[in-house]
Parts: sequence; structure tokens; C-alpha cells
Amino acid sequence: MGRVTRLSHDKRNVSSTGASGRALYDNLQLAEISKLERDVSAHLSSKPHRLEHSLAVGECAESLALTYGLDPYPARCAGILHDWDKALTADETISIARERGVDMGVDIALVRPLLHGILAAQELPTLYPELPPEVFQAICRHTTAAVDMSPLDEVVFVADGIEPNRPASDGIAKARSLVGEVSLDDLFWESFVGGIIYVLQGSRYLYPGTIDIYNGIAAHRSTHKENE
Ligand SMILES: [Fe+2]
Ligand SMILES: [Fe+2]
Repeated sequence: MGRVTRLSHDKRNVSSTGASGRALYDNLQLAEISKLERDVSAHLSSKPHRLEHSLAVGECAESLALTYGLDPYPARCAGILHDWDKALTADETISIARERGVDMGVDIALVRPLLHGILAAQELPTLYPELPPEVFQAICRHTTAAVDMSPLDEVVFVADGIEPNRPASDGIAKARSLVGEVSLDDLFWESFVGGIIYVLQGSRYLYPGTIDIYNGIAAHRSTHKENE
């Protein structure tokens, strides 16, 4: 694919070097990123838009990680792989989740759009044992979020929502405008709440766990603000 970030000191390519102009990745990491991009290209070959999105989320997550002072490597890897199980059909997704006993507390068919992250996080550690576990947690949480999102989880969640191929709704445009202007926690919150509004405005089913996560984070944020 030729998309892999290269060892370069060309500052025009934001994804190739950090602010200092140093190369971001060593040769092993570059080889791994190249392998992941090749693998996902083959795995999602019948879904070109999904593939384009996956590669873009990898690059967007890498860029966000750099903006917020995080290691770009796990962000890039998680972004590339996050929609691995979008290769499955809707029926396959539901039946595999049932086979594996995935318990969301509601009929699994109602939360089908959330399942691909959970299923991928179960499969990918066997395929890529060389990747750090936090990569798989971020993949798992890119659909559901969690009360205790790590910075990497937040980066991948946000990148999924704002990568440049996504048509700009008001919410996406706002989240894009906040990158680097607000904290990563605030950027994630904007993206997460925007996702809930999207579900409500579309009269879609809202997973009850999402309400619990919303309330958990909202309570934490209000306590944090009171202590400031
Ligand atoms: Fe996804
Ligand atoms: Fe995605």
C-alpha cells in the first residue's frame, strides 16, 4: 500500500516525524505497521470504504497521539485494526457473539453495531501477540467507550469519529475544531456525547450501558470541576 510512515526528517509529513523532527518509529515498528496495513488491506478487500477508513483512523490516531504527547505507535496500530471485524456480515457478527457468549445485558441483536470492536479484541491478540495489550483494549472500547478510558482509548475513539473521510456533521466539525485546543478528556467527551446525540436523533436503539458510562464520566467530570 505504501502508506506506512517512513523514517524521514521531512517535516511536511506530520506523521513521519515528531515536533523535534526525529523519526517516530524504529525499523521493527515500521515493519509492523506495514504488515498491519497489508493484512487489513487483504482482510477488508471487499469493503474499500471501510479499508480507506481504517487506514485513515490509523493516521488520525497517530496524529492525535502526537498532539497530546502520547506514544503514536499503539495509536497507529489500534487505528489500523479497529474495524477488523467489519469484514463480518451483520448476521455473522450476531451469531459469533452468541457463540462466544458475549453478554451485553440485552438482546445481542439490539447492540449489533457495538459488537465488532468487542469481537475483534478477542481475536486480534492471537493474530498479533507482538502488539501491546493496550492496543486491544482501545479496539474493544472504540464502539462502547468505558468509564475509565485511557488516553489511548480516547485517541482511538476520537480518531474513529473525526478521520478526514467522514462527512462533516455539525458534531464532527466541532470535534475537529477542538483538536489541540482542549484537553484530550474534553475532546473525547465531545465526541462521545456527539455519538449519543447521533443515536437519539436517528431514533436508534441506545445501549443502556452507554447511559451508565455517560453518567459515570459526567459524575467524575463534575466532581473534578468542583475541585478546581
Ligand atoms: Fe468501528
Ligand atoms: Fe471505524
